[in-house]
Amino acid sequence: MIEVRELTKNYGPHKAVDRLSFSVKKGEVVGFLGPNGAGKTTTMKIITGFMPPSAGSVTVAGFDVFEDPIEVKKRIGYLPETPPVYGEMTVESYLKFVARLKGVEKSKLSAQVERAIEKTDLGSVRKRMIQNLSKGYRQRVGISQALVSEPEVLILDEPTVGLDPRQVAEVRKLIKDLAGHHTIILSTHILPEVQATCERIIIINRGRIAAEDSLDGLSRRMSGSARVHVRVVDMKDSVVGDLRSTPGVQGVVARGGGVIEIDTDGSKGITPKLAERVVTAGCGLLELREERINLEDVFLKLTTSEENQNKGATL
Ligand SMILES: Nc1ncnc2c1ncn2[C@@H]1O[C@H](COP(=O)(O)OP(=O)(O)OP(=O)(O)O)[C@@H](O)[C@H]1O
Ligand SMILES: [Mg+2]
Repeated sequence: MIEVRELTKNYGPHKAVDRLSFSVKKGEVVGFLGPNGAGKTTTMKIITGFMPPSAGSVTVAGFDVFEDPIEVKKRIGYLPETPPVYGEMTVESYLKFVARLKGVEKSKLSAQVERAIEKTDLGSVRKRMIQNLSKGYRQRVGISQALVSEPEVLILDEPTVGLDPRQVAEVRKLIKDLAGHHTIILSTHILPEVQATCERIIIINRGRIAAEDSLDGLSRRMSGSARVHVRVVDMKDSVVGDLRSTPGVQGVVARGGGVIEIDTDGSKGITPKLAERVVTAGCGLLELREERINLEDVFLKLTTSEENQNKGATL
């Protein structure tokens, strides 16, 4: 349904998106996950035809975004990062306005506006001016306008940002309900969002794809690794070095309170070996626990490299 090929976007000398390629099948819900400045919004703006790429191509339902922009826009509902403000319109008149703009036939217009209001639960505020609504309701208006033309594809840029926990839960439920009926790409920089709503995730970092897999697949990929948590009575200086030099150890961090975190490759026998080293160093072992690395760690590993840390985040 969506094909993105070798997409590149330069802002002056800065590459915001760097030869990005991926595809999304009809009916899929894909999460676009990445830290601030990764290039998520830029990619979405190009897919929706709001901005031309510097190189590469995007097709939606077989139509090229720049050769057939009208065909593409007909098929896409877009919730931008900062939704346009038509503060002095009422919710209902705004949705009618968007539906007309999107070319919804006159005979279907009222019914589609009703459905969008119903799906996003805006019935109680339909006659109120948008500028007087709370942030959460304004966000729902944003989602509602994306839905009103009943498009095949929904592109939602950070759909739950700034909402309170109850509204976050409601919007996630709404996205799940929409899932069977639309092809969806949503962006977020928080993991629970993709875990709650998406089947597949594309992790993007510094304009490139760092990983692309199903949620399960990504967790599995890293399942070889394990983190070992150790707590000791007496943190001896030498123990960190001893642990670091143990074969299979990928990293050691000593925290306050006698806590040591050790990332390992999960190879057989490594944990007893680490216990032995701690005991031999004479630290007084109080606690040792092995933990499988979760998706949050995968995300951090994939998006944090020494190179990035040295350069600082791209903002
Ligand atoms: N109009 C612009 N002019 C210059 N640079 C820009 C422009 N828009 C974005 N950038 C830069 O491009 C990079 C990618 O930005 P983008 O907004 O796509 O990231 P994002 O992944 O959506 O981040 P966030 O999670 O903060 O929304 C950033 O380094 C940003 O500073
Ligand atoms: Mg963004």
